[in-house]
Amino acid sequence: MRDFDAAPLDAEARRILQLNDRGGYTVPTAGLYPYQWNWDSAFAALGFASFDISRAWAEIETLLTGQWDNGMVPHILFHRTDPGYFPGPDVWGTETALGRGTCSVPSSGISQPPVLASLAWRIYRADPAAGRGRLVPLYPRLLAYHRWIIAARAETGAVVITHPWEAGRDNAPDWDEAMAGIEPLGVEPYTRRDTSHVDARMRPTKEDYDRFIWLVQFARDRRWDEAAIAAESPFRVADPTLTFTALRSARDLKAMAHELGEDEAEIDGWITHLEAGAETLWNPETGAYDAKNLRTGNFAGSVSNASFLSWWGGLADDRPRATLARILGQSRHALPSYDPEGPKFDSLRYWRGPVWAVMNFMAANGMAEQGLTEEAARIRADTARLIVENGFAEYFDPTDGTPAGGATFTWTAAVWLAWASPSAGTGAGGR
Ligand code: GLC
Repeated sequence: MRDFDAAPLDAEARRILQLNDRGGYTVPTAGLYPYQWNWDSAFAALGFASFDISRAWAEIETLLTGQWDNGMVPHILFHRTDPGYFPGPDVWGTETALGRGTCSVPSSGISQPPVLASLAWRIYRADPAAGRGRLVPLYPRLLAYHRWIIAARAETGAVVITHPWEAGRDNAPDWDEAMAGIEPLGVEPYTRRDTSHVDARMRPTKEDYDRFIWLVQFARDRRWDEAAIAAESPFRVADPTLTFTALRSARDLKAMAHELGEDEAEIDGWITHLEAGAETLWNPETGAYDAKNLRTGNFAGSVSNASFLSWWGGLADDRPRATLARILGQSRHALPSYDPEGPKFDSLRYWRGPVWAVMNFMAANGMAEQGLTEEAARIRADTARLIVENGFAEYFDPTDGTPAGGATFTWTAAVWLAWASPSAGTGAGGR
């Protein structure tokens, strides 16, 4: 990549962000994902910050207009109804949700990996003078988001998901046991929309989809009451994605509190609690952090790209290094979302094999911070090469780089601008 002219791809990445800009918020890609998604938007903000810092803050501000009174930030905000996506607001039925309160933005009833505070902090540090006036009013909202995570989802210290979509890794093998425990009776008839936009081989199966919808109906029937869901749902899985992104965000919130002269004691308590929880996800059999089904106590036995977010979470833990070396050794294009030697590996099917640029960004940045310089450089070089050779796809086949899922994808463009491009390295992406 040394003599590579990044300018045309940088321009294309900026064009994609502008193409997907719907005025104050960005869709992940037109057609397949026509709404505002939580963690996609946080990454969109990071991408915008490389050329329009004010627009970056606007993305975060719009996302937080959807925050419920209980602090939860939903995974999708349905700003304008679009029949091209299922399940839409009518299926989620969150108007009467218990935690929603006065929030009037239509939304889903679940959340997503909390990367928002971390990426906001990165954007702030890129230009504190421009950011201070924007960060001050957002800070209490970011704090409320994390207070909700700790109260509603961190009973064991590790952060749990109540639906696979919350992990942002929709059909990862991590949920297979818990999903198999659901008998999807009473699912209202539905028509999938995703498979009319992209090849069905790249998407979750019908068995998965029935259970996705069953879980939505289950929670809707309980008016999205977190206590009832915690007590009754067959699906409660402690997830490395949520745990490590929450841990990282707590550390970044602490830095924000320090910068703004706010109290840090509550956040210190969260960090201690989450660190203890992270330890419960260490699976000695796989030599990796793993998902844990809280209903059975079983590990998933899954080595995923989320397994390697422990460094991003700020853990100076060498134990995963051997497994990381094995995975890097086997992968032509790192990081695969599931162990290429594992029994459930599927190079094209979404979170059961493919490489995702946003996961690479977090994993590699965490590794670089913790001194795993070579591993970080390898993952960054692979990410850049995948994009140079195959475009700004949603995700990529780790065996041959085939671009998969949606095209002109916001977060892939954002990760390019902030980090993977040879021209990145200053500003919000940092290195
Ligand atoms: C898929 C991904 C999820 C992402 C969403 C929008 O559902 O699994 O992580 O947020 O698409 O891009």
